[in-house]
Amino acid sequence: MSVRPTLFVVLAAGKGTRMKSSLPKVLHRIAGQSMLAHVLKTASRAGGEIAVVVGPGADAVSAETLRVVPEARIFEQSAQRGTGDAVLAARSLLEEKAGSDVIVLFGDTPLVRGEVLSELRGALDNGAGIAVLGFRAKDPTGYGRLILDGQGTLTAIREEKDANDVEKAVDLCNSGVMAFRVDNVALLLSRIGCDNAKGEYYLTDVVEVGRQQGTRARVVVCDEAEVLGINTQEQLATAETVWQARARSKFMQSGVTMIAPETVWLSFDTEIAAGVSIEPNVIIGPGVTIEEGAQILGFSHLEGATVGKGARVGPFARLRPGARLGPEVHIGNFVEVKNVTLGDGAKANHLSYLGDGSVGANANIGAGTIFCNYDGFNKQRTEVAEGAFIGSNSSLVAPVKIGKGAYIGSGSVITKDVSPGALALERNSQEERPGWAEKFRIMMSRRKAGR
Ligand code: UD1
Ligand code: CA
Repeated sequence: MSVRPTLFVVLAAGKGTRMKSSLPKVLHRIAGQSMLAHVLKTASRAGGEIAVVVGPGADAVSAETLRVVPEARIFEQSAQRGTGDAVLAARSLLEEKAGSDVIVLFGDTPLVRGEVLSELRGALDNGAGIAVLGFRAKDPTGYGRLILDGQGTLTAIREEKDANDVEKAVDLCNSGVMAFRVDNVALLLSRIGCDNAKGEYYLTDVVEVGRQQGTRARVVVCDEAEVLGINTQEQLATAETVWQARARSKFMQSGVTMIAPETVWLSFDTEIAAGVSIEPNVIIGPGVTIEEGAQILGFSHLEGATVGKGARVGPFARLRPGARLGPEVHIGNFVEVKNVTLGDGAKANHLSYLGDGSVGANANIGAGTIFCNYDGFNKQRTEVAEGAFIGSNSSLVAPVKIGKGAYIGSGSVITKDVSPGALALERNSQEERPGWAEKFRIMMSRRKAGR
């Protein structure tokens, strides 16, 4: 393992025209976070300084960079003259950090893992001046081809548009990830020309330029899925599929049960403890933690929520940001919870909206209960204390507090605080008229018959 300092240069200045979207390409999301954030986190975990090359006026890309890695350095590439030119946008830093290894990553190649970066560094430790991460492509169209000599030494990288038929038949491709251990990376890159089909400064030409001065280039081969380059919306969806499969498999290996894993959607920061079971068709957005032994039943949607030990959620439940479920809490079908903390064993099993407030331990929220939290201007809190029982179809108009162990009669609209242990009832008394139905039917049938 290399102990030399490393400088990561992440290229993110391309226009991404093939995405046909107004969002900069590297800000498209995989598993709920931008491609750029995936790359930056991998680099940051691998250890080293990080520079990001952005396009002119790409404020959103710079902002995302600094959100993820506040100490990152940002360089602007004034015009998109190719990947070689893009790395040189960071020239001043490359010169300042002479003596560091340099690893170039692409913002549009987000699935690269730390393990392969270590392998690349290993190739540098073993004497390569340039180490290129390659892969065998099922369909190499569009990728640069890695051209090896008889001894297996990398002699050139040929871009699709510049390749002849023999070169096009090569399936060993360039991922774009490249590592350097040379005296002066900037000087080496500045020797790259633009005499090619696109008239661009190709980073890939560094292999031939290096060769002329005796720098050895080696290929480290990894799996195709690892280095999927994203240029189109379809490739973005493919990368999502790859990411999800990896994450599901990681959770299952750590003891999470999923009977139809391919229908469970996870996010970049999802935390699920061992012994949790997740039924089919569950979507887990960012910010979710699920503790030991909890069950998430089918068709539930969770986001920004914590699910305590042994809790049960769903089917068809919606947990929104700030839903904090304690141990053994039950949230049933068609219940929406937002910014509410529920204590141990509290239950809301059917058809309710709980927004902004708290529910004490073992309280029971009846079917159809609504926390009326919003008056069109402000949000107010509803606090239901421990052991309270809220009858079905009640509206709790916030701000309001229901005392410990209190009962709310079904159908009540509660606008005032309720004392501990009391029954609060807000509904008209029921009247009964004996024999009324029979008289009514006779009257109506006569009227209809015109008698
Ligand atoms: C590039 C490689 C190709 C490789 C493929 C892997 C070159 C010349 N070609 O092709 O060998 O097989 O990636 O996915 O390197 N960028 C800039 N400034 C520029 C141009 C690009 O910052 O002037 C950035 C883009 O934002 C992107 C990355 O560099 O993150 C790659 O650029 P892209 O145009 O997608 O290169 P490919 O044609 O895919
Ligand atoms: Ca690309």
